Amino acid sequence: MRAGALLLASMTLFGCASEVAWAEPPPGPDAREVLETRCTGCHGLGWVCGESRSEVAWAREVQRMRGYGARITPEEEAALVSWLATASGSPDCAD
Ligand code: HEC
Repeated sequence: MRAGALLLASMTLFGCASEVAWAEPPPGPDAREVLETRCTGCHGLGWVCGESRSEVAWAREVQRMRGYGARITPEEEAALVSWLATASGSPDCAD
């Protein structure tokens, strides 16, 4: 009861700052979302997810896709590439 009232009071006092901090999504773009928005315009996810590759190999692959016209920011690429290094070749990658 008392703890609840204190919490309420502090939320009221510092509401703005702490609410923003709590509501914030994890830092950086979401890899899965990047995959679905940036990598499915020209081919299906099967092309991307089928084969397991290292982070370095994925970075190279994304660079190659840029050559075809893929548009992806460096932040999105960083999130995607590190996620793909573990997710590619596994059911986490395909739907
Ligand atoms: C502008 C069109 C386009 C976009 C967008 C695109 N790709 Fe591709 N991708 C291609 C084409 C064309 C091929 C087939 C030719 C080739 O493999 O070089 C391909 C093939 C691939 C392959 C298959 C390579 C193989 O050896 O089987 C992978 C992996 C791949 N893309 C990953 C990606 C990823 C990851 C993204 C998102 C960052 C992406 N692609 C976005 C055009 C695109």
